[in-house]
Amino acid sequence: MTELPVGIERISFYTPRYMLPLTELAKTRGADYDKYRIGIGQEIMAVTPPDEDIVTMAASAALPLAPYFSSIDTVFFATESSIDQSKAAGLFVHGLLGLPNRCRVIELKQACYSATFALRMAQQIVTNTPSARVLVLASDIARYELGSPAEPTQGAGAVAILVSSTPSLLHMDAAAGIYAADVMDFWRPNYRDAAVVEGKTSTRVYLQALQNTWEHYHEQTGRTLDDFDRCCFHTPFTNMAVKAYQQLLKMQSAPATKEKSDFESTVSPSLHYNRITGNTYSASLYESFTSLLDTDPDDLSNKRVSFFSYGSGCTAEFFSGTIAPDYEKYIRKNEHRALLDDRTPLTVQQYEDMFNLTVPRDGWNYTFGHYRTGPFRFAGISKHKRLYERTEDK
Ligand code: CAA
Repeated sequence: MTELPVGIERISFYTPRYMLPLTELAKTRGADYDKYRIGIGQEIMAVTPPDEDIVTMAASAALPLAPYFSSIDTVFFATESSIDQSKAAGLFVHGLLGLPNRCRVIELKQACYSATFALRMAQQIVTNTPSARVLVLASDIARYELGSPAEPTQGAGAVAILVSSTPSLLHMDAAAGIYAADVMDFWRPNYRDAAVVEGKTSTRVYLQALQNTWEHYHEQTGRTLDDFDRCCFHTPFTNMAVKAYQQLLKMQSAPATKEKSDFESTVSPSLHYNRITGNTYSASLYESFTSLLDTDPDDLSNKRVSFFSYGSGCTAEFFSGTIAPDYEKYIRKNEHRALLDDRTPLTVQQYEDMFNLTVPRDGWNYTFGHYRTGPFRFAGISKHKRLYERTEDK
């Protein structure tokens, strides 16, 4: 029996309409910009205005998938920037997009890993029921303390991924290497808006998880690094992907001279978007994949791609897939480029004002001012209810 192809049919990315060039942050913080640009590998961070949140970003990412809405029967919403302890953020999106009532909607949390679990579950659902279409949403706002070493890695964004048995973009393989360990490298207690992070520990544990998931994946498939044309990594900052690729090469005992040129073709195209949005947590790996599809100069048809997903705490997964022939017909590279090119730069003062203006905690009536947003905005709060509205299409 031939294996039913299951995987990604469409992918759409959204990031807020405001950004802070890290040249400005470096000046204000008294840092050498080369530390951000070269040492960390970041140039711009996306900044969320007060009337945008994980719901509006996810709905904005998903809106271009409207032709498929009537066939969606499951929505997974992956996030670590949750807005409610009970109600799934995906239900607000379900309402904003007018998705079918014959549908299941659930929110998933495990740091930056949860979208990968959602994708794997979607793969299972479609394998069992080939007529099913699953919408995987990943949406996050990366927040650290102002002035902390992690500040220049902040960012925000969302991806919407349609999984089906007509995978026009990526045919997902079944094999996966998995890993979990109880570590405190990055976390956010319920009473905090910004994450707590042990930066050096987190990079060490990330690489440890990569090694373990790779070994598990290799045991199942016998594949080596040579079997992959492209590698996508969870990218909290782009130099983490450099470290990750070096780690994979080290485990393969590849000659060091191969390293640099390989990186340019195998990994670099997947980093363009992350470098100019910052960390998007659960969306980050899939933002990397979007960047690869949109910006790689080569024809990626039938190329095998590896994916490494890491969620602090920690859980990780290494899996793979093959890019579909004709994928170029179905990508949204012009729309993504236009979105990234048309952002309003902020001063550091404006960024700090937005950072400090958090959602009031008394839950009573509050109306947010109008900022630039996507097609949806977070209008305010009334009697503890979050109110969302459609804006003029931009
Ligand atoms: N020019 C060029 N490079 C410079 C430089 C300069 N003037 N000054 C410093 N550098 C280099 C350093 O040599 C260093 O390079 P290597 O990492 O290759 O050694 C790099 O810049 C970073 O500098 P520091 O070592 O001084 O580190 P830092 O104190 O600035 O912190 C960080 C860096 C730990 C990544 C911090 O930004 C952080 O805590 N980030 C958040 C945590 C994180 O993203 N962890 C990743 C793994 S966990 C994860 O993936 C989950 C998630 O999404 C958060």
